[in-house]
Amino acid sequence: MTDTNALTMDAPVENSVLDRGAQGVIGKALDRVDGPKKVAGKATYAAEYALDNLSYGYLVRAPFACGRITDIDADAARRLPGVLDVITDYACFIRNPAQGNDTEAPEQGVREVAYFGEPVAIVVAESYEAARDAGEAVRVSFEPGEGRFDFDGRLDEAEQPEDGVAPAHFDQGDLDKAMAEAPHRVDAVWTTPSQNSAAMEPHASTACWDEDGLTLYGAYQMPASDRQQLADALDLPVEQVRIISAYVGGGFGSKLGIAPESVAAALAAKKLGRPVKAVMTRQQVFDATVRRSNTHQRIRLGADAEGRLNAIGHETICSNLPREDFFEPAGIGTHFLYGGANRRITHDIVRMNRLLSGSMRAPGEAAGMLALECAMDELAEAIGLDPVELRKRNDPQADPEKNIPYSTRKFTQCLDEGAARFGWAERNRTPGDRRDGEWLIGHGMAACCRSNMLMPSEARVALTPQGVAVVETDMTDIGTGTYTILTQIAGEMLGLPADRVDVRLGDNRFPPGAGSGGSFGAGSSGSSVYLACQALRRNLAEAMDCDEKDLTLKDGEAVAHNRRVPIEQLIGHGLDAHGRIEPGEMEKKATQASYGAHFCEVAVNAVTGEVRVRRWLSTFAAGRILNEKTARSQCLGGIVFGIGAALTEELVHDARNGKVVNRDLAEYHVATNADVPQIEVAFLPERDPDANPLGSKGIGELGISGAGAAVVNAIYNATGKRVRDYPVTPDKLL
Ligand code: MOS
Repeated sequence: MTDTNALTMDAPVENSVLDRGAQGVIGKALDRVDGPKKVAGKATYAAEYALDNLSYGYLVRAPFACGRITDIDADAARRLPGVLDVITDYACFIRNPAQGNDTEAPEQGVREVAYFGEPVAIVVAESYEAARDAGEAVRVSFEPGEGRFDFDGRLDEAEQPEDGVAPAHFDQGDLDKAMAEAPHRVDAVWTTPSQNSAAMEPHASTACWDEDGLTLYGAYQMPASDRQQLADALDLPVEQVRIISAYVGGGFGSKLGIAPESVAAALAAKKLGRPVKAVMTRQQVFDATVRRSNTHQRIRLGADAEGRLNAIGHETICSNLPREDFFEPAGIGTHFLYGGANRRITHDIVRMNRLLSGSMRAPGEAAGMLALECAMDELAEAIGLDPVELRKRNDPQADPEKNIPYSTRKFTQCLDEGAARFGWAERNRTPGDRRDGEWLIGHGMAACCRSNMLMPSEARVALTPQGVAVVETDMTDIGTGTYTILTQIAGEMLGLPADRVDVRLGDNRFPPGAGSGGSFGAGSSGSSVYLACQALRRNLAEAMDCDEKDLTLKDGEAVAHNRRVPIEQLIGHGLDAHGRIEPGEMEKKATQASYGAHFCEVAVNAVTGEVRVRRWLSTFAAGRILNEKTARSQCLGGIVFGIGAALTEELVHDARNGKVVNRDLAEYHVATNADVPQIEVAFLPERDPDANPLGSKGIGELGISGAGAAVVNAIYNATGKRVRDYPVTPDKLL
């Protein structure tokens, strides 16, 4: 019989079983349990499922940016060797399957196109090469429409969207008046470009139908909600869709929802009566999935003589396709990071014929802190105050907008600890003062924050008669370490070594997990595993005839009242339990976020404008650290992406048609090894009982927040140049 242990987070959870530390594996830098499989090529990624009788799909795209398709001529393509079919049904190519819009199909092959390269057909053939070759022979006729490709010239057309994860518009007090009265002010505009998630693994789906319905093998961050999206897109009952996504080669937001290849593969497989594998090319990943929107951000800060903020304005504009309701929530961190009575934080959308925009690597904070944290640096300079001190003076005691407390917030401790470890007191004080040959040396810092979220999540944990814990949830591991931390949680709770815990993920046959997104994956799925294990502990305590709190489980043994029993002897024919966590009142009772501080040293070449980041230290406070190594790796990744955002990363749109020009990893420059110095990361000890039973907070998207601003502030400190247009490429510094 399955025991369900459900918890709604309506109150703080104190005295976690994890605090007893019987096993001592929680928090440890355990190597990835899936590492050996990955390096041996035995972890199956999206494009690697080898089904019998497989056929191959290739997406054909619109050769224009905006208008109406009048005809798709696939006759020549169909006659090519190995070609099985060309499918042009409108329903395959829902622009944003995740949002289910544009689903009505007027007539076969006739449809509106809203961005250059939008998928419009799929060729299916006996080989991928044959499908790709035939794709070139498909002719698309169209009536061009009037496209909107200019962002800067259309700012005054920006529309207020519906509220999203952040309110679209927020006003408190009188910002204009407070600005007018402030003795110290900053009022400037920062711009950030479109970006691409740039996961290593391209999107791929293998679709296969049988009497139970559709099975889709692919790369998904959120199998539970992706399954629902797929069912909606295909008009199927959700029980007839099964997603399998055991290993994901990076997501960064691009695999939160389903992408065009999944629906196309599913429909093609149904029509052909055989499995279809559709793999997107690298170029298609860049120009036919999803982007982070470019942004235009006006920041206004007004402070008194001591540097206390009385005015904070953060007015942001992003771009998206007509009718899409997602906006880049660039002001989200500004809501809770600093105090100040008079506030205005807005998000508007300019409608453009550019690739769909959506969530990518810390949507909101990643882009917004590039502006806010440079503005804070400018304010510190205007006042003549240490930028660390300015931030500390604006650390409010409670949420500045909601009249509720913060959950644990070690923000000022992150600032102090980071400044001490980095040697901030020894920093360069005046731009241009410090030189190393032709290199100008500068130091910069920025604050870091990321809202914490909890999502509903379920898991099953079974103890086999052999004393192995089998953990099952359709949560994913997108390279983040889920397999490893769930192994540690179950191991700690049940007193088992890692090799007696078997974590199985990414299959809709398992209980619906939180999925990997929004930095909520570890805390949410980990809590559901914790709760299932807690139920098993009660069962084991009963078998030991003791209270759960008096039971110690360690090294495969149960210990209570001077009895020591191998747990196999308590399990009988097997035990299993179900855990379920749900968000509750706590998210309204306390503002929850993770915090940090970045410090860096850059060298800027006075002759060429080249920037090298030479030294980096960051501190973070994110509740309980579940695994010191995987957590650190998450932070390193975020910082690396921050360096890229500051210096190189930019998705370039052709001004004539919005087409993505740099469509591969050679031309789209994420920071790589040679761009990144040794990075030091320090975690402050913390438990957040308001967040979840683990006391952990989100860490996946924390490191990127503010990181790019630290680089740009250091560039100013080196050169005296304030560049407010990201990325800060050498041409902007000369
Ligand atoms: Mo994240 S952008 O929620 O994968």
